[in-house]
Formats: sequence, C-alpha cells, structure tokens
Amino acid sequence: MLSPFDNRQGFIWYNGSFVAWTDATLHLLSHGLHYASCVFEGERVYDGVVFKLHEHTQRLHHSADVLGFSLPYDTETLHRATAQLIKKQKITNGYVRPVAWRGSEMMAISAQQNRIHCAIAAWVWPSYFDPNLRKKGIRLQYATWRRPHPSTAPTSTKAAGLYMICTLSKHHAEKNGYDDALMLDHQGYIAESTGANIFFVIDDALHTPEPDCFLDGITRQCVIQLARQLNIPVLERKLKPEDIKNAQAAFLTGTAVEITAVAEIDGLIFKGSPLTDRLIEAFNAHVAAYCTQHKNEQTAS
Ligand SMILES: Cc1ncc(COP(=O)(O)O)c(C=O)c1O
Repeated sequence: MLSPFDNRQGFIWYNGSFVAWTDATLHLLSHGLHYASCVFEGERVYDGVVFKLHEHTQRLHHSADVLGFSLPYDTETLHRATAQLIKKQKITNGYVRPVAWRGSEMMAISAQQNRIHCAIAAWVWPSYFDPNLRKKGIRLQYATWRRPHPSTAPTSTKAAGLYMICTLSKHHAEKNGYDDALMLDHQGYIAESTGANIFFVIDDALHTPEPDCFLDGITRQCVIQLARQLNIPVLERKLKPEDIKNAQAAFLTGTAVEITAVAEIDGLIFKGSPLTDRLIEAFNAHVAAYCTQHKNEQTAS
C-alpha cells in the first residue's frame, strides 16, 4: 500500500517557500476546512511538463474569484514554484495539486479578514483507473445525488465544497461493485462522472452534455477540438438517459482519467467504437507535441 499523503518524503511549496512534506500542515480552525472556502486544481505532468499549465492556473484564479478571494501569488510565481517543485520532487510523470484556502483569523460564516493560504504539492502518479481498464472500459452506476443548478452553487469552479456529493456518489458506486458514478443534473439530464466529463459515440458523431452546471473540463475542450480537426462531428447537447440507449461507445475525459472508455452504465452495455481509439491516439500525440513545445519554457526556472 502507498504511504498516506500526510507522511511522505520530499517538499511542498507552502505560502511562498518550500517546506518539508510532513511540515505542510494547517490549523484545525481553518475556514477552508469548516466552511469549504477552498479551491484547487489537478494537473498532470508528462515528461516533466505540466499539460495545459496556463489553462489550469487561469481556472484556479477563476475559482478563487468566484469564492470571493484573490490568490496571493500571481501566475508567474505559481508557475515558477510548480517547475521548481517538479524538479525537487524528481517527477517525470505525475500529478500537481495547487490549493488555496481561507485561514483562521475569523471562525464563522463571515471570513472577511482571513488570510488566503496557497500551497502546491506534486507526486508521482500512475493511472487513475487500472491502465487495462482504460481501453477495455470502466463500469458506471447512476448516482442518486445530482449536480446542482448554477444559482445554488459555484458550478463553474473547482471549489472543494462541490466534491462532497462526488465522494458520496463514488463511494456508493464502489460499494455496489462499479468503478465510478455517473451524475445527472438537477433537471435529470446526464451531467458528468464524479471527477470527469463524459462523451457518447452515437452514429459516428460525438455527443456530450452542455457544461451548463458542471465543470467544462480542460481535457473535454481539448478532445472537442481534436475531434473537430479529425472531422468527427461533435454535438454539445442535453442528453437524458434514454437518449444514450443506442450509443455505440462512451468515454470519460479529465486530467486524472485522461480518456477512459466506459463499457457499461448501470446495465447498458456499449460495444465500443474505433472512434474512441482514434481520439486516444490523437490525444496522446497532442500531449507529446505540447510537452515538446513547452519543455524549455516550463523547465527554465
Ligand atoms: C468534477 C469534475 N469534472 C470534470 C473534470 C475534468 O476536468 P479537466 O479535464 O479540466 O481535468 C474534473 C477534473 O478536474 C472534475 O473534478
């Protein structure tokens, strides 16, 4: 078993400097912990380069803005810290987790005076799902929790509080022998899984839910662009569970899952499509080209 995340070797960038991994602690009475005033990112490192680093940092700033605070570090500082951390942690392929949260100055709903803390951790990370499963396909179960209406939660962000229903849904699916959960939105349309977007192959076209109440993933946007370059039609639309009954294939997209085939949703079996393999190939080639292009810029500091 891997060692727990609070007891590892190495360094974490914490409020502007590198501290020993086990010293990167916060006080029990932190607003981010009690009231979920916390935002984060998940970035993947390929060959020492963070894929779509700018897009992730922009989204971190956006998430903080929506939660009513500004990050105390600018983009350049965060990028320099990330590059140094990857080097210090000797990561070739791995994961980067920037996080920002309100501290302890006030400990009630109002937290106007609280310091904003910011940290970045990075670690070597294998596939989210078993690599064999990524092509063969994972099994999803519909969740009972639904993605909320944008007027009831900051749905365009990676705010920690949004993940409460994701953990509940994933635990429920795992308990029932599935790999993950597929969440509907507040109106009963298909939304996304607990940490990734979803696509369906229907009659040689890609169909994917409109991201009107959940994260418009960076990988999702990239896959749509790649599909269009390959002349594969892409339809962003509202999809009810009955609309996918005749889908040939389905797959998830996300920084963690990359592109992972879905073999089954709650008893609905997909036979698979060569389109999924074409997109995986195109995505891998795109990642490799991105890394070559950004290697010098990201590793210069
Ligand atoms: C809830 C949720 N949806 C979708 C995604 C996919 O987003 P991205 O492709 O930007 O990683 C993620 C991962 O960040 C997520 O946590």
